[in-house]
Amino acid sequence: MLIDPFKRKISYIRISVTDRCDFRCTYCMPEKMQFLPKKDLLTLEELERLGNVFIDLGVKKLRITGGEPLVRKDIMNLFKGIGKRIGNGLEELTLTTNGSQLEDYADELFEIGVRRINISLDTLEKNKFKLITRLGNFEKVMRGIMRAKKAGMKVKINTVALKGVNDMEIIKLVKWCGENQFNLTFIEVMPMGEIGEKRINQFMPLTEVKELLGSHFTLNNDPMKTGGPATYMHCEETKQKIGFITPLTHNFCESCNRVRITCTGNMYMCLGQEDKEDLKKPLRESKNDNVLKDVIYKAILRKPKGHDFVIDREEKEKHVPRHMSVTGG
Ligand code: 5AD
Ligand code: SF4
Repeated sequence: MLIDPFKRKISYIRISVTDRCDFRCTYCMPEKMQFLPKKDLLTLEELERLGNVFIDLGVKKLRITGGEPLVRKDIMNLFKGIGKRIGNGLEELTLTTNGSQLEDYADELFEIGVRRINISLDTLEKNKFKLITRLGNFEKVMRGIMRAKKAGMKVKINTVALKGVNDMEIIKLVKWCGENQFNLTFIEVMPMGEIGEKRINQFMPLTEVKELLGSHFTLNNDPMKTGGPATYMHCEETKQKIGFITPLTHNFCESCNRVRITCTGNMYMCLGQEDKEDLKKPLRESKNDNVLKDVIYKAILRKPKGHDFVIDREEKEKHVPRHMSVTGG
């Protein structure tokens, strides 16, 4: 078992398999994003070994992220490889995706054992979708989402609340998710990486979203705790859960159960701090998993108490230099 200095059990890892993405969401990256050279990435075999080692160390839930994970070549091989551990150490294999490739992969993912999927969607309007994602194809994403549903996966929609952009669609999004039996989680925009725009112009505190929802729906606190950062409410009208990820208005770190691994093999013990451990080196230098396990154990002992993101009026923005697409959220 991996246990950090604050007695939090690390039962969940997120592995980013690529920093590349076929979208350029305005809150995530600048239009001309500089991606890593492909040669810096861990191979799929290395990623699989890493996943297996963490499962051996007691990790129960593994999420594949990106960038957009499904744009990585032969990515299904990694899902198949790690999928073998479902029910054999691993309780859940899942992914976060922008939905652009789901039409092609949803059935296979289900076959491999993926039962829940997080899909990012910030608007239900085609034109706005283009404005936000710059490169995304709305219809294709919609087809992908419906394909995932049809395949039998429980879909959760992730929506970043953006002031003046999708705040007027919040009610519509909740209703649409209700009609489709999707859960929905709202996320506060986090100051990660340069995007060529000031965060304060985008930031919408979820306290406002909650107020708005409260005036339209009957919301009850939902006891579900995933050990993760979200708090949940149950919407009586739509019968679905609505989650809130509020790194800025309410610090969520006390229950953090996770670490994140980048596509180059860096392990970040916190999304909002810069300390990291290089796992690529021990991965390549030794075939012995114990060497790698030792490095991981020691690094977990440095897991910090929490992030210290700040977005405020005076633009004293406190951010981490890396984009979300590096650590995969
Ligand atoms: N702040 C908050 N959420 C972000 N995402 C990407 N960049 C940011 C950011 N700076 C979201 C994506 C996706 C999830 C992995 O993180 O929309 O839903
Ligand atoms: Fe790609 Fe997700 Fe970033 Fe959008 S938010 S650019 S879909 S990684």
